[in-house]
Amino acid sequence: MAPVHVDNPYAGAVQYVNPTWAASVNAAAGRQSADPALAAKMRTVAGQPTAVWMDRISAITGNADGNGLKFHLDNAVAQQKAAGVPLVFNLVIYDLPGRDCFALASNGELPATDAGLARYKSEYIDPIADLLDNPEYESIRIAATIEPDSLPNLTTNISEPACQQAAPYYRQGVKYALDKLHAIPNVYNYIDIGHSGWLGWDSNAGPSATLFAEVAKSTTAGFASIDGFVSDVANTTPLEEPLLSDSSLTINNTPIRSSKFYEWNFDFDEIDYTAHMHRLLVAAGFPSSIGMLVDTSRNGWGGPNRPTSITASTDVNAYVDANRVDRRVHRGAWCNPLGAGIGRFPEATPSGYAASHLDAFVWIKPPGESDGASTDIPNDQGKRFDRMCDPTFVSPKLNNQLTGATPNAPLAGQWFEEQFVTLVKNAYPVIGGTTPVEDLVAPTIEGRFGGHHHHHH
Ligand code: GLC
Repeated sequence: MAPVHVDNPYAGAVQYVNPTWAASVNAAAGRQSADPALAAKMRTVAGQPTAVWMDRISAITGNADGNGLKFHLDNAVAQQKAAGVPLVFNLVIYDLPGRDCFALASNGELPATDAGLARYKSEYIDPIADLLDNPEYESIRIAATIEPDSLPNLTTNISEPACQQAAPYYRQGVKYALDKLHAIPNVYNYIDIGHSGWLGWDSNAGPSATLFAEVAKSTTAGFASIDGFVSDVANTTPLEEPLLSDSSLTINNTPIRSSKFYEWNFDFDEIDYTAHMHRLLVAAGFPSSIGMLVDTSRNGWGGPNRPTSITASTDVNAYVDANRVDRRVHRGAWCNPLGAGIGRFPEATPSGYAASHLDAFVWIKPPGESDGASTDIPNDQGKRFDRMCDPTFVSPKLNNQLTGATPNAPLAGQWFEEQFVTLVKNAYPVIGGTTPVEDLVAPTIEGRFGGHHHHHH
């Protein structure tokens, strides 16, 4: 039976559980015999679906870091049969020439040259598309996350020489991937849109929506080659800031969005951002049927440092810092941030966020896998040492603050058990437990409706 291309592939479907990742999680649980409650939480996490990353050419056939794509697709077919309902296989396409042009930790194997692009097409996208196109796999719904960070870097980081050099290859590479993958009826393309702390400002969100539309229009099927967009991939920006839910709030006639943490950005969280982007994308020409995904694998921010009731202050920075659940020093701190927790579990069509047009919460970054090494570690993948992953580094990109990265991190993508333990402990919602409900009553010291209102939705 020929596969039907549905609107939301996640609706009514289960998602693929990567047995290799689950084995790492269960092994970690086995080392927590002194804390049976923590071990039990880890075993619950092991049963959750996570994406399979094709992070280099050798990942297609399999390498020392994992089994190849055929292994996973065969397992996906078996899981789908066992479930008796449709199954979504989350796949990450991540090997553009000049990959990760604004950072070093996930630089890739292909140079930003014509030769690099030729290899991307013939040695990377073509073999992936050939495998996915196999009739044996037509019963599974393949959701492809297309090239995290690539097009977002072209909006904000084009002054960086490496991004300038990579720009034409990102556009052509993404176009090629979209064309090849959209030609397979059971593949669904989701374009990475960064996160609210990156592209949320209108001055970034607007040009980004224009760029996504340009790339869509360059493909054979045009807008139809893109099914949706995915935010917060491998980042930790919260789904919601429950104590700062009104981004128009003023303190002493000063808008909280003018705080050092938000830098005038209206989008405090991924719910704000996905709604904002959906609106701009439709205005840029995409059909309103496009769906949004949020990678909630590490954006929970629970644990002892999570504020649970509003703390009053007459200082806008103190107010924001006391009441935000995002405990990072700066929203640009992306590498193994200390204190992050697992977020919402994968879920299709989550309710309560109509304006965000969510297809699903997904776990694209597998919890427990490092974002980058805290020291220089030689490797054959092209990965380099990014000081954002070094906890001793004071970064100019973070207003000259320490990075807040977890120490002793291995190479990007490698299992990082210490971080995994924190992610499970700081999960929000609490795993298998009772999650306390925030006290949303604002203290009376400040009027919630003073000052100017900037309604943005
Ligand atoms: C990083 C790594 C990549 C890995 C992915 C998922 O982006 O560079 O190798 O597959 O994270 O953990």
